[in-house]
Amino acid sequence: MSLYAEPRAVADLSQCIFYHAMDLPGIGFARGNWDLRQRFERYTGGVDFAGKRTLDVGTASGFLTFEAERRGAEVVSFDSTSPALHHGVPYLHVRRRRGVTQADASDFEGIRNAYWTAHHAFGSRARCHYGDVYNLTDELGEFDVVLVCQILVHLRDPVAALTSIAARCRGKLVITEGMIDSEHPVAVFLGHHDQPERYPNNSWWHYSTTLYRQVLDILGFEVVYFEWNNYPWENATGQKHIFKLGTMVAERIAPHT
Ligand SMILES: C[S@@+](CC[C@H](N)C(=O)[O-])C[C@H]1O[C@@H](n2cnc3c(N)ncnc32)[C@H](O)[C@@H]1O
Repeated sequence: MSLYAEPRAVADLSQCIFYHAMDLPGIGFARGNWDLRQRFERYTGGVDFAGKRTLDVGTASGFLTFEAERRGAEVVSFDSTSPALHHGVPYLHVRRRRGVTQADASDFEGIRNAYWTAHHAFGSRARCHYGDVYNLTDELGEFDVVLVCQILVHLRDPVAALTSIAARCRGKLVITEGMIDSEHPVAVFLGHHDQPERYPNNSWWHYSTTLYRQVLDILGFEVVYFEWNNYPWENATGQKHIFKLGTMVAERIAPHT
């Protein structure tokens, strides 16, 4: 299999699910759950993208990729090969149904279609790699900027994922996630033991800021910037919520091997 995916031709916008709100040239406004259009700088910690080889980990519909590219980055988008790689919290009703649901599979394809539709609309030169976040191939090379935004919350083992991701980073690692403000290196489990069927099963952990700092230190990075920000979220049925996310920028100070 080749390292980068062949661009996908998407005939019909109705086959797309936009995770991000985007203004698409020649198409118009695409409504998405997260509207980061005026918030890209703060979401990515104000890092400079000009001339930077950038990896967008968990690209979804690709807003971060296309904004980084607009600022002069050469971007590789990354997402998982298959939703079968997404391990959810193993609630009983989830264990019983075994495997990927039809709804999860069609959401996954819809978001991938949205990425390629936007890629085409922007005339993007970004390349896209599909793989396993726990085992990012070194064939990807190294990156000056690596964006790790709202993917760790969905992973059973964020430390293993960060270890794999950090090995691709020679410069700045940007983490934007729900975090706990604590001087203790702790994690909060986001599974629900009470009425779990009421909740999506794809959220695992919020780490404390101190836990992130310690893991990053172990991986050879020093935190150079941190800020909290609020971001609006909205779903297709009009449900709204404000999420408070931390953005941490860490710089490589020691080699990874
Ligand atoms: C919530 S979206 C984040 C989108 C974007 N990074 C942002 O911050 O706006 C999470 C993305 O991570 C991907 N993802 C979730 N679990 C994954 C896994 N185990 N391996 C690789 N990608 C995964 C999903 O496919 C999705 O594109």
